[in-house]
Amino acid sequence: MKAINKDGFSIVFNHDGYKELSSFILNQNFNKILILTDENTKINCLDIFISNIKSINEKICEVFDSRVLNYSVKSGEHTKNIDSSLKIWKFLTESGFKRSDLIINLGGGMITDLGGFVASTFMRGIKFINVPTSLLAMVDASIGGKTGIDFKEVKNLIGVFEFAKISLIDLRFLKTLCKRQITSGYAEMIKHSLISDDSDWEKIRKIKSVKDISAEMIYESIKIKILIIEKDPFESGLRKYLNYGHTLGHAIESKVLGSEKELLHGESIAIGIILESYISYLKGGLGLELVKNIKTHIKKHFKTTEFVSADISKIIELLKFDKKNRDKEPMFVLLKGIGKPIIDQTVSEQEIREAFNFYKD
Ligand SMILES: NC(=O)c1ccc[n+]([C@@H]2O[C@H](COP(=O)([O-])OP(=O)(O)OC[C@H]3O[C@@H](n4cnc5c(N)ncnc54)[C@H](O)[C@@H]3O)[C@@H](O)[C@H]2O)c1
Repeated sequence: MKAINKDGFSIVFNHDGYKELSSFILNQNFNKILILTDENTKINCLDIFISNIKSINEKICEVFDSRVLNYSVKSGEHTKNIDSSLKIWKFLTESGFKRSDLIINLGGGMITDLGGFVASTFMRGIKFINVPTSLLAMVDASIGGKTGIDFKEVKNLIGVFEFAKISLIDLRFLKTLCKRQITSGYAEMIKHSLISDDSDWEKIRKIKSVKDISAEMIYESIKIKILIIEKDPFESGLRKYLNYGHTLGHAIESKVLGSEKELLHGESIAIGIILESYISYLKGGLGLELVKNIKTHIKKHFKTTEFVSADISKIIELLKFDKKNRDKEPMFVLLKGIGKPIIDQTVSEQEIREAFNFYKD
């Protein structure tokens, strides 16, 4: 897996990635480095990460022995909030961190979003590195410069665009990730294939079990995202393609957050992809056969969630808070065909309800 070097950020992989990261840290001569983890990544990933980087050379070994602190937060989406940000800012301040120091976010998308936000706002921004440990963070959350926290009931309401200087992807971290979390990350790979082209979708369609996801497929998925964000880093147009499945997906995720029906991010997005594919069909874009294939494939990997009419009403209500809205009107990304997204589309309440009807069967 060849490193992807772009203006202002790099994605590096496996052993070579540690070499790159080590050179970066030694060149910048950081005085203090914070490794942010959550409960699970502290147990499963912290020692592995430290021993991998320390194996690069003596000098980086000394840095990690003397200048590195760890701060760990609770796992789960409910931690991606302002209270956690306050605690981390407090820790940084009390530990004497300066603007010239570094944060390494070692975790899934919750940690890369939260840690990226905390770093970008602390002292008007200190540098940060992402070391994603979940599939979802590897193919999506840790790359592309979106950082943020949830606020009130709304996902990612507060945040800034700021790129991690380096995202280091080490596929070995996936060994301790459970199947449900791998499948959640797979939803974003499905999305990438649908906004990319037929051949990517055909490769994805052949996946019978998430165990069949290869390193090459992960690499291809990352490249699809990079191709888009390098053309439009701050989402003025093209980057909105990446929101396919996310307008309804985010509203669903917000609706069930904290309830007994709570869904993982990718699980909500998988539902959003089915709904928005069906709406794409209603608008004359995708053919019905293709939409049925998308639904069949997603349902093979993800359990069906039940939505009663009141749930759908609440989800429609939550759409008002979507960041892509013009006034209160939600704006959707729909597909005219595979690899042919169209942005800023309006959708009626009736069409959304029809899509939920299609989803449930
Ligand atoms: N910034 C972006 O562009 C972007 C894009 C997509 C998603 N996101 C955000 O990403 C978040 C979801 O990311 P996620 O699915 O990685 O969730 P997550 O970070 O909550 O991780 C999922 C679970 O897996 C555990 N975990 C992570 N790596 C592990 C490992 N190697 N071994 C064992 N356990 C491990 C975590 O502790 C957590 O319990 C959401 O908040 C979403 O909004 C951001």
